[in-house]
Amino acid sequence: MQGSCPEPPCPPKMSCWSNPMARRSPGDGRADLARVTTGRSPGGEELRRRRVELGRCRAWQTLGTGGAELGRRRGVPRASGGANLGRAVGAKLVRWASGSYQYDVELCINASLGRLLPMELSPFATFLAMALTATFLLLGLKARFRRGGYNLPPGPRPWPVIGNFNLIGELPHRSIHELSRRYGELMHLRFGSFPVVVGSSVAMAKLFLKTHDVVFIDRPRTASGKHTTYNYADITWAPYGAYWRQARRICITELFSVRRIASFEHIRADEVHALVRGLFVASTGRRRVAAVHLNRDHLSTLNMNVITRMVLGKRFFGEGADAAEGPVASRAEFKSMLDELLVLNGVLSVGDWIPWLDWMDLQGYVRRMKKVGKIFDEFMEYVLDENTERRQREGEGFVARDMVDVLMELADDPTLEIQLGRVGVKAFTQDLIAGGTESSSPATEELDRVVGGDRWVNEKDIPHLPYVEAIIKETMRMHPIVPLLIPRVAREDAVVCGYDIRKGTRVFINMWTIGRDPELWDSPEEFTPERFLGSKIDVKGQDFELLPFGSGRRMCPGYSLGLKAIQLSLATLLHGFTWRLPEGMTKEELSMEEVFGLSTTRKYPLEVVVEPRLPAHLYK
Ligand code: HEM
Repeated sequence: MQGSCPEPPCPPKMSCWSNPMARRSPGDGRADLARVTTGRSPGGEELRRRRVELGRCRAWQTLGTGGAELGRRRGVPRASGGANLGRAVGAKLVRWASGSYQYDVELCINASLGRLLPMELSPFATFLAMALTATFLLLGLKARFRRGGYNLPPGPRPWPVIGNFNLIGELPHRSIHELSRRYGELMHLRFGSFPVVVGSSVAMAKLFLKTHDVVFIDRPRTASGKHTTYNYADITWAPYGAYWRQARRICITELFSVRRIASFEHIRADEVHALVRGLFVASTGRRRVAAVHLNRDHLSTLNMNVITRMVLGKRFFGEGADAAEGPVASRAEFKSMLDELLVLNGVLSVGDWIPWLDWMDLQGYVRRMKKVGKIFDEFMEYVLDENTERRQREGEGFVARDMVDVLMELADDPTLEIQLGRVGVKAFTQDLIAGGTESSSPATEELDRVVGGDRWVNEKDIPHLPYVEAIIKETMRMHPIVPLLIPRVAREDAVVCGYDIRKGTRVFINMWTIGRDPELWDSPEEFTPERFLGSKIDVKGQDFELLPFGSGRRMCPGYSLGLKAIQLSLATLLHGFTWRLPEGMTKEELSMEEVFGLSTTRKYPLEVVVEPRLPAHLYK
């Protein structure tokens, strides 16, 4: 292509810096360098020509250096043509920086220009080539710039404003499950204005909840935290810091200590038997065996009564209720208040993710949050007033009986690092009630063998009932109550698995996916409690394939209480009744559809026929 060279033809054996690479051998450059460094460099016209080339080359170098550096910093993928060019040229420039100037200018041209543009370049061609390269470079980097210049985990391309919300359905854990099948165990999404990262494997759960626990220990600031939990004064939504640490200390030493939980054993037993009595009466109507719709009402009444007695000191509603007065006068009102709190604490509220749309409250959630927050506050004021009255009445002889008593004593404790105050007591109590009332879950041979047929199963029998425990684990594997755990937030920039996770990124761990990982579980879609018999996998936050209560420092503090309630209820229900589906209904027809909230529950009530199987006097 010498003919197209605007410069005079090269003298034989003389370096023509802009000649194609093919014409030169690697040794030629070194020979030229020798000529330059030994002072036998060309002069006059040749020198001028070389200067022009040098100018062009510098422009390439600048472009190349910039491209390569940007490419390097932003982790440009190999497929990105422009940045590859930048890298190729830039790589030569490393040598340029460290070696002889002229020699490496030549190398630059030979290795990069020569290969990329195998012809001598006119000024116009040079300009065109540079413009094209710049365009490639920009196109290649555009994707990275869109991701804020970070090396983010893979994920779907977000839309302006809404991000990836268009991919999330009514059951976010299932939509996210489908997405992570495509993008992998660590996935980057964008919900409105916020980056979101989802971990969907044991390894990722471990990285976020254990290895980098301190980084991902915060919670996002959501409208529900603000309007329903006293401006983040509860434990669940409290930002990471001294207040939250103190709250966790109170949980460990006061609220959920082994002694305190044991002291409430009689309450759990009482309430389970109240449920059993109710089912017995319902199932032994005129027809002896009647279909009993065992639904959330039965189990939530049980849990509600257990928790109100432990936390508030009395059974508020139902048979033998101490009081059905105050701002929340009926069981249905109380339950709908709690349901509303749980649903609103789990919703994806547009304003939380697109803050500039917050004021519009497009879904009406904020209005509902404020409303339920107010009702709850009135209820709590009533409870605290009653407590204060009793304390004054009993004077010196006052003994803390329930969790509100304990919290009220702490509220006045001047030695606390941060004063709890009345708001703190109300907010903590809300967590206790909300956490405790959602602990529902659905071996009789085992029960008969261990317990027998002439007494009821009790908490001391539980360690001897591995099959009951296996059923609970299997249920929690397939239907985790909090499938995405409660979101965490990155407190600072972090690198996880080589990917950048920016400060403020919201992190979900999808236990729903982990519970269905075929590499962890044989036939994951089958309900097989036997898989847990003899297995060491537990639910206490150490085995990352099964984390119904989360893990790490922000793990559920009420897990042992929750677990005890579930174990006793399930064991008692299985011990006291035989269960079958109503006539004509098959197992496949049993709906397992869910409703998403802070806790995920059945969409349709479980309809089963129960038949008492123990002597009648035990149910009285
Ligand atoms: C079956 C019953 C329960 C389940 C499945 C459950 C599940 C969970 C989960 C998954 C978390 C989030 C953990 C994380 O971020 O890693 C959590 C947090 C929490 N749970 Fe539970 N929980 C249950 C029972 C209870 C009970 C009985 C209480 C209290 C009476 C309670 C109070 C709390 C509180 C206060 C937090 C927030 C902890 C924090 O942010 O520091 N939970 N729970």
